[in-house]
Amino acid sequence: MKQNDLQALLGEMTLAEKIGQLQQVTGDFYTNDSAEITGPLSNNLLSEDDLKNSGSVLGLSGATDTNAVQKKYLENNRLHIPLLFMADIVHGYRTIFPIPLGLATSWNPELVKETAAVAAKESAVSGLHVTFSPMVDLVRDPRWGRVMESTGEDPLLNCLYAESVVQGYQGPANDLINNADHIAACVKHFAAYGAPEGGREYNTVNMSDRELRENYLPSYQAAINAGSKLVMTSFNTIDGVPATVNTYLNRQILRDEFKFEGVLISDWAAMMEAINHGVAEDHRDVAKQSLKAGVDIEMMTFCYHQFVEELISAKEVDEGLLDEAVLRILELKNDLGLFENPYRSADAVKEAAVVYSAEHQQVALKAAEESIVLLENKNNVLPLATSEKVAFVGPFATSSDILGTWSWKGEISETASVADVLGTDYPTAKVTISPVADVFSVTAEELAAAKAVAKNADKVVVLLGETSQMSGEASSRTSIQLPEAQLAFWDEILSVGKPVIVVSFNGRPLDLSAVSEKVTGLVEAWFPGTKGATALLNILYGKVAPKARLTMSFPRNVGQIPVYYNHFNTGRPINFDDLGNKYVSKYLDVPNTPLYPFGYGLTYTTFGYDHFKVAVEAGAEPVITCQVRVKNTGQTAGTEIVQWYLRDIVGQVVRPMKELKGFDTVELQAGEERVVTHSFTFAELGYVHHDKKRYPDHGEFEVMVGSHSESVLTTRITL
Ligand code: GLC
Repeated sequence: MKQNDLQALLGEMTLAEKIGQLQQVTGDFYTNDSAEITGPLSNNLLSEDDLKNSGSVLGLSGATDTNAVQKKYLENNRLHIPLLFMADIVHGYRTIFPIPLGLATSWNPELVKETAAVAAKESAVSGLHVTFSPMVDLVRDPRWGRVMESTGEDPLLNCLYAESVVQGYQGPANDLINNADHIAACVKHFAAYGAPEGGREYNTVNMSDRELRENYLPSYQAAINAGSKLVMTSFNTIDGVPATVNTYLNRQILRDEFKFEGVLISDWAAMMEAINHGVAEDHRDVAKQSLKAGVDIEMMTFCYHQFVEELISAKEVDEGLLDEAVLRILELKNDLGLFENPYRSADAVKEAAVVYSAEHQQVALKAAEESIVLLENKNNVLPLATSEKVAFVGPFATSSDILGTWSWKGEISETASVADVLGTDYPTAKVTISPVADVFSVTAEELAAAKAVAKNADKVVVLLGETSQMSGEASSRTSIQLPEAQLAFWDEILSVGKPVIVVSFNGRPLDLSAVSEKVTGLVEAWFPGTKGATALLNILYGKVAPKARLTMSFPRNVGQIPVYYNHFNTGRPINFDDLGNKYVSKYLDVPNTPLYPFGYGLTYTTFGYDHFKVAVEAGAEPVITCQVRVKNTGQTAGTEIVQWYLRDIVGQVVRPMKELKGFDTVELQAGEERVVTHSFTFAELGYVHHDKKRYPDHGEFEVMVGSHSESVLTTRITL
């Protein structure tokens, strides 16, 4: 439909029909089937008649259901304005990919984009139009359960992934009319939801506007610059004002500075929760503040429905604000081609062929293989040989709970466990399996059986972890260790005296201190998704070499939090030449450094760096060209992720000790060496100054290169 046709359509709409477009409800309002419920339920204030005008639905999918609902809806909607179907497709639809925090360790934006494109294809054919993804909240606190949805602590990587995911979902040129196997992205949660005090879910966020702009806003802006059609508000406050009713955030920053012209949708009940926060008196006040703050769609509460008409007639809200919101919603429907074809590519026959296809599962396998991080490999205990006698023991030897949360349509029942894959893919391997049924307890029989098979094995793989429900929304934890029973189990298996490899399935950086020192091999598998078990075994048996690198620091214990690589120096930094000095910024009981740092991950070989040089091409816009020679110093081929960091020695505000400014992925055969070059523009050294603007300063910089944030070569330049 042309823009002026949309304006004409808007002109035909009654006030009730316009207000209806701002309402979103779950699918069970339209069908008897159960829908995905992802928040607290309020009293339903909508009549059957109201539902004829509600603009969108969340948590309902499946071509048969969505087509049936759309058909009936269009028959009852006076102006035949189609319904929008939205849902949380966060790391895959039915083919589930590793959780985003895992996928991020691939340092492979193209692969991440491919997974989003597969998710979009499965979603579109199943009747969905919008996904509530990517979640791009920067996170430095593993106590927060939703860390599993994030891509970690680094602004640059978060921006790269935000862009990749939007491009994957929305397809070429964001042309959703001509690419009906793509869907609209909804970047969330705007803004800074990933920084709640104490890592406690839904808690207060307290940070300066400068810090917000320096580290937390860039990833939302990257998603918007990539064309994200929607933005979702967050539950938290920003500088004392809940994000959802925050005009500074949603009008000045989002609309005026970021030039966002798409739809702003509230998170579930986030509008009404302004009352709990204590900035709105009642639902009427919520409706007034939210419309003024520019929220277009109200998710699963009914304040707009109840009071917008009255607010307009009382002239407390201008009808123009309502028209703005409705027009953005109509434009979104038009961008999806729904006026021409309300069913888009929803097709039950195609759905059966496309969803969970072998081709998609291959993408899931590749994604999982590139997302599993090797943290320890003492004495080269890995890779395993099929001729070795290996015992696989522990709760995740037979558990299929490896999809993680936000895997709504993923089926645990169809997900192969490690034991399943050993049977199908490793028939000749000498393995024994001794499972533990419960993540939180180990019976005496299970322990005895596990120790017995360990005694008869050459090596023991102990498969531990969290249940998928121990991370995700509303799943903050004050202890981030493995469950006690598992730690006791691991100690018992260790006492048998064989080399032990621990594999952990989890949704957050755990405190692995109790394991890391005594273990021989240590593998972080995250929740690796549909093909996770196959990917893990392909890595353990060396069919595939690990290449993943952490995008979030692993703390030594929960007391260290927040611990992250791009920290400030402080006025009293530790001086390693004078460790006796008491009066420095440190703890009495643990080092300041994390257990495993940002950018860290082992491979089955080793790499050496030398011949590091930096040249500056002076001029108005100086260019910094770096080069380093990287050599595969091991016995087998491997992939190195060469990481480039910079430090601005003196700034108008304090600058981090290092910031990732780029990376290069190089595959080298044993003994092979390569000169890797990387150039930076002066603008890439920019940061947010007192005036809230981002630009670089001239002066001295440290340039660093290495295999992770704590292993770098350093040189200085002046710009
Ligand atoms: C939830 C989440 C949000 C999700 C929405 C719809 O509360 O905060 O990420 O997209 O509700 O399910």
